[in-house]
Amino acid sequence: MAKVKIAVIPGDGIGKEVIPEGIRALEAAGRKFGVEYEWTEFDWSCETYHKTGRMMPEDGIEQLKQFDAIYLGAVGYPGVPDHISLWGLLLPIRREFEQYVNLRPVRLFEGVPCPLAGKKPGDIDFYVVRENVEGEYSSVGGIQYEGTEHEVVSQQAIFTRRGTDRILRYAFDLAQSRPKKHLSSATKSNGIYHSMPWWDSRVAEMAKEYPEINVDQYHIDILTANFVRMPEHFDVVVGSNLFGDILSDLGPGCTGTIAIAPSANINPEKNFPSMFEPVHGSAPDIAGKGIANPLGTIWAGAMMMQHLGYDNIHDSLMEAMETVLREAKALTGDMGGSATTIELGKAVEEAIG
Ligand code: NAI
Ligand code: MG
Repeated sequence: MAKVKIAVIPGDGIGKEVIPEGIRALEAAGRKFGVEYEWTEFDWSCETYHKTGRMMPEDGIEQLKQFDAIYLGAVGYPGVPDHISLWGLLLPIRREFEQYVNLRPVRLFEGVPCPLAGKKPGDIDFYVVRENVEGEYSSVGGIQYEGTEHEVVSQQAIFTRRGTDRILRYAFDLAQSRPKKHLSSATKSNGIYHSMPWWDSRVAEMAKEYPEINVDQYHIDILTANFVRMPEHFDVVVGSNLFGDILSDLGPGCTGTIAIAPSANINPEKNFPSMFEPVHGSAPDIAGKGIANPLGTIWAGAMMMQHLGYDNIHDSLMEAMETVLREAKALTGDMGGSATTIELGKAVEEAIG
């Protein structure tokens, strides 16, 4: 029997509630297709930070290296500043493991009310491909004259040709594999003087290698409006770290609930483990109530198995999710139902059969 070794980091808040439902669904599909899992749980979180002063141990990255993949709930909690939780856990994992692709599918499912008028399932079905390790999310910069009236703050965005070309390459390849063969680039070359015109030039350069792909580009401001005005236009949308981050919440927001949306942090070369997580955070406002929607985590689990080569498990989880949504079985509050996290998780398990 095939055995998959997964590092599990439930993290904070609802992360601890949704991850068990992801595991439940993966186990059910594993039983069906003869795949066994070895789950190794790490309690790295803001709670751990309070106890130890660190989000993860000093050799955390080393400990994770031996796994096939990392399954993460969410990190961040009131009491620990968000930049500490992010820079102490998520960002080091993304960077050390060269997870330079952040892939976020956006899809409107049957059974999920769409906040955009007149859209039906099938109308919204695209991917946001976000650069995940450089760009605007940089630690280069500083504060001078701190605490005085003369404070000066600088924050550098860092774009490398290697980093930009490899994310564009991934996005073009993804677009090439899809029927629409359409790629949209997020830019802001009218306002950002150096990096964005250069980004556009790298897109144009790469486009020459993909003559079948229809390429367009939009400034980030009108692009956000277009997600709402004409989501059916999009197929693969590629953006820098910051633009991609914004778009990948807006996209799922346009399909009803961000709680369904998954996020894959991928090292395409498979030199290191990749990490799979729901898009949403730890949701302190509903944590502990048992009402969080586990579908984003379940979908992230499906992407994890697809990355590891188990398309059958991916497809089985997706079909089960679709069934549960279509039949409005056990929906959580964010989708207009009244089911608990566990009830929805069990409905998916049952649908996997
Ligand atoms: P959030 O995603 O945690 O919550 C935003 C809103 O959506 C809240 O009203 C919440 O109740 C709701 N929501 C989120 N997930 C849900 C689910 N599964 N089911 C039902 N409702 C859900 O974003 P927020 O409030 O900005 O951040 C809270 C904390 O999470 C912060 O500390 C933040 O840094 C962290 N965070 C962590 C992320 C990660 O681990 N990748 C991503 C985003 C935020
Ligand atoms: Mg985000």
